Amino acid sequence: PGAPLVDRFGRVHRDLRISLTDRCSLRCTYCMPEQGNEWLARTSILSTDEIVRVARLAAASGITTFRLTGGEPLLRADIVDVVRRIAAIAGPDGPVEVALTTNGIRLGEVLPDLIDAGLDRLNISIDTLDRDRFRELTRRDRLDDVVEGIAAASASGLRPLKLNAVAMRGVNDHELVDLVAFALDHGAEMRFIEQMPLDAGHTWDRARMVTRDEILSALSERWSLEPVPGRGGAPAERFLLDGGPAAVGVIASVTAPFCGACDRLRLTADGQLRNCLFSNDEYDLMPLLRAGADDVALDALLHDCIAGKLPGHAIDDPSFLQPARGMNAIGG
Ligand code: GTP
Ligand code: 5AD
Ligand code: SF4
Repeated sequence: PGAPLVDRFGRVHRDLRISLTDRCSLRCTYCMPEQGNEWLARTSILSTDEIVRVARLAAASGITTFRLTGGEPLLRADIVDVVRRIAAIAGPDGPVEVALTTNGIRLGEVLPDLIDAGLDRLNISIDTLDRDRFRELTRRDRLDDVVEGIAAASASGLRPLKLNAVAMRGVNDHELVDLVAFALDHGAEMRFIEQMPLDAGHTWDRARMVTRDEILSALSERWSLEPVPGRGGAPAERFLLDGGPAAVGVIASVTAPFCGACDRLRLTADGQLRNCLFSNDEYDLMPLLRAGADDVALDALLHDCIAGKLPGHAIDDPSFLQPARGMNAIGG
């Protein structure tokens, strides 16, 4: 136990993304079917004690950043407690960092408590600023709630604050400049994401995807873009807008994969470790956790999961198989 999480390709893992629930208050078409999914049973979801136990072991093996995701993580009733207990973990090199990725709904209400509990960073998803389009895309009329959440995040002073949008042809690809301007107004950094084949309906089509190059070309009509060096393991490639300091990010998982520098590991809400968003293997902690296994056994599974990691996602491979579970179940 405590050995660093290094895979066969020398990648050192420092980032654990924990999905706190598969449920969500939205139904984004690129993520879930209209009727939602068949939700995990309450009893098959990790308890907070179980999550904290895994997080402590992960920290002992070198995980320094914990990102809480969903579904929508704010739907977890004890979210403040989860943040507080993870933020209190001390890794071998000092305190860990706790980040949250949320759709922003009801964020204003809980944000003061989350910050008090030790939340370090916040990423909020907003794909469009147009109310009708938002309703069509998310199948819920809640743009105002999301904007309110972003305003609260902005006012809280928590920085860096990042906004995420999946770029989609004919949906929001003419709004990219407006989204950046909106982010700048809120002291936030806008990031555009290439859509990945993780939708429930398996309708993803590479030919229709808005690519990194298209995103950059749209933005360069308005700003000069200067690449920021020193990306490390971050998925986003960043560019200074007109020389900075403001910047924009592009997450080009499909046309410019960052798998070679990937330092991420995932824990699903039902206790499966995954070494990749696109992996078809899961490493089930649940039976160990619920049978009273000791830390040595849990730690061994953690290291097995890393040992089984492939070099990359192979989306372009003819034999690529979209993972059985959708984004909301895997944790984003
Ligand atoms: P930072 O730590 O703030 O850079 O956050 P992040 O970009 O890692 O996390 P966020 O939850 O905001 O995710 C933004 C987008 O990056 C989403 O579409 C994620 O699915 C995608 N993403 C995050 N981690 C990975 C990864 O390991 N592989 C791939 N392909 N995409 C990822
Ligand atoms: N491709 C890319 N990003 C996605 N997200 C959800 N589904 C996909 C997909 N198929 C994004 C959300 C959110 C983040 C956690 O992942 O929009 O910003
Ligand atoms: Fe919810 Fe995020 Fe999926 Fe949209 S993409 S339905 S906000 S989990």
